[in-house]
Amino acid sequence: MIIDGKKISQEIKQEVKQATAIFRKERGYAPGLAFILVGENPASQSYVNSKGKACEEIGFHSVTERVPATTTEAEVLAMIDRFNKDERIHGILVQLPLPKHINEQKVIEAIAPAKDVDGFHPMSVGKMMIGLETFLPCTPYGIVELLKRSGIDPSGKHVVVVGRSNIVGKPIANMLVQKKPWANAIVTIAHTAAKDIAAYTKQADILIAAVGVPFAITKEMLKPGVVVIDVGINRIEDAAAKNGSRLVGDVDFEGVKEIASAITPVPGGVGPMTIAMLMVNTLRAAGGRIS
Ligand code: GUN
Repeated sequence: MIIDGKKISQEIKQEVKQATAIFRKERGYAPGLAFILVGENPASQSYVNSKGKACEEIGFHSVTERVPATTTEAEVLAMIDRFNKDERIHGILVQLPLPKHINEQKVIEAIAPAKDVDGFHPMSVGKMMIGLETFLPCTPYGIVELLKRSGIDPSGKHVVVVGRSNIVGKPIANMLVQKKPWANAIVTIAHTAAKDIAAYTKQADILIAAVGVPFAITKEMLKPGVVVIDVGINRIEDAAAKNGSRLVGDVDFEGVKEIASAITPVPGGVGPMTIAMLMVNTLRAAGGRIS
């Protein structure tokens, strides 16, 4: 089975759109999301453009502050302060990474936890860790939703996460280990310190790859019937492609799909889910929800 993240994300966005129409009618205003994009990183520009477009399609109010890479930390903090106080804004997203002269952690902590739709504030992370209701970070939240809507229950399964980033590896491991429906898994986090990464990946009933290395996971490293979630988005050179490059994941899709029972493609797997879950979080930040 190919897990169609594009289709599932469209269904979720449709649900948010319908809920937003009702929300606007009842309250007379729209959920509002503010983006801050510092610098000209092409991938970040593309992500923020896609997120802004999704807001428009759904019927959210959105504002994007695009500022140069030379913007100071104090200026970024001042923008956040302004959005924290702006009652038309319910969610604030500062696109990462930030230029080196800006302390990313300080910026994340400046966002009011009630508007932390990225789920990166230590308050949100702490609540997630102990299983309290909070904003869940969009990419891992999207992975849980992909599994749920594909009927793949991680309960009692061995999930092996490869990668330990704060944005994906650590939170997805935490979410799936919770004693809750669509979680309750036995979770291993493997990472670069492992001498033999395959010794871990071979044990996976569900493998989640979030390492940022093209083709890092091959079929020799997995057992037949595994469910594979590929979080990687890597641009590699390809002379046969139109613009000389193409996007691939962290998993050797062509090889692994022969032995996996289910697998997410790249593009069209986890990627579109991140935006869909951001829309869900923003609706919730405004006080609405999908049924
Ligand atoms: N950079 C890569 N992923 C993300 C994300 O989910 N949110 C933000 N703000 N920046 C990112």
